[in-house]
Amino acid sequence: MSIQTALITGAGGGMGSEIARQLAAAGFHCLLTGRREGPLEEVVAEIEAAGGSASAHPLDVTDSVQIQALVDRRKEECLDALICCAGDWLIKPLEAVTDAEIEHILAVNLVGPMLMARSFLPQLRRSENATILNIGSIASMRYVPQISIYTAAKTGLRGFTGALAEELRPERIRCVLLSPGPADTPMRWAATPQADPDTLVTPETIARTVAHIVTLPPGTTVTEFLLISQGYGEDAARKMLDD
Ligand SMILES: NC(=O)c1ccc[n+]([C@@H]2O[C@H](COP(=O)([O-])OP(=O)(O)OC[C@H]3O[C@@H](n4cnc5c(N)ncnc54)[C@H](OP(=O)(O)O)[C@@H]3O)[C@@H](O)[C@H]2O)c1
Repeated sequence: MSIQTALITGAGGGMGSEIARQLAAAGFHCLLTGRREGPLEEVVAEIEAAGGSASAHPLDVTDSVQIQALVDRRKEECLDALICCAGDWLIKPLEAVTDAEIEHILAVNLVGPMLMARSFLPQLRRSENATILNIGSIASMRYVPQISIYTAAKTGLRGFTGALAEELRPERIRCVLLSPGPADTPMRWAATPQADPDTLVTPETIARTVAHIVTLPPGTTVTEFLLISQGYGEDAARKMLDD
C-alpha cells in the first residue's frame, strides 16, 4: 500500500503541530503549512528525528494564489487528509472591532478552509479514504459574549463543513467538524492568560482524535462534536473572559 499523505494548516505550533507529529507517527507523510517557515521547519526536524516523514510548505490560507501554487506543485499526487487548523482569535465587544479585524477573523477561520478544500479536492478524490477535517471551536456550538466575530466565523465553518459533507457524501469523502473546547495552546494563553489549566483540553488529546477520524474505515464518518475538558463547567467561559 502506498504511504498516505496529510496536509495540516497552522502546523508550526499549537494543536496543528501536535496533529502533524501524531499523524506522522501513524505513518502519514505530513505536508506542514503556516505563514512562517521557521516554526514549520522545526516541526519537520522533530518529526524526522522521531523517524517520521514531513515537509514544510509556507503559505497563507487566506491567499488563493499561494494555495494554488502548492496545488500546482503537487498536481499529480494523492491527498488522504486535509486538516484545517490555522486560525486566529479576537476578544472584543462589537463596537470596538475594526473593519480590518472583521475581515481578518473571517478570512483566516472561515474563508481559508473553504479555499483549501476547493483547491485540494482533485488530490483528495484520488484517495480511497479521504478526510477533510476542519477545526471549529466551542464557539461553533455555544454562544458567549465578546467573541461575536470569531463566533460568526466558527459557526460559519460548522455550516460550511456540514453542507460540504452532504455534497461530497456520494464520493465517500468524509468532512468533519471537530470543535475543541478551550485548549492548552499559545493562542489560548495569549487570549486568556488567567485560564485555569483544568478547564483546557490538551493538543495531544485533540491530535489523537484527529488521528482516529482520518483512519476510520472507508465509507464511515462522524459529523461534528465538541471535545472538551470536563473541568470546563457552565460558567467557565464567562469567568475566563471576565477575570
Ligand atoms: N486554543 C484554543 O483554546 C482553541 C479552542 C478551540 C478552537 N481553537 C482553534 O484551533 C485552531 C488552532 O488553534 P491553536 O490554539 O493551536 O492556535 P495557535 O497556537 O495560535 O496556532 C495557530 C497556527 O495557525 C497559523 N496561522 C495563523 N494564521 C494563518 C494564516 N493566515 N495562514 C496560515 N497559517 C496561519 C499560525 O502560524 P503562522 O503565524 O506561522 O501562520 C499558527 O501556527 C484554530 O482554528 C483555533 O481557532 C483553539
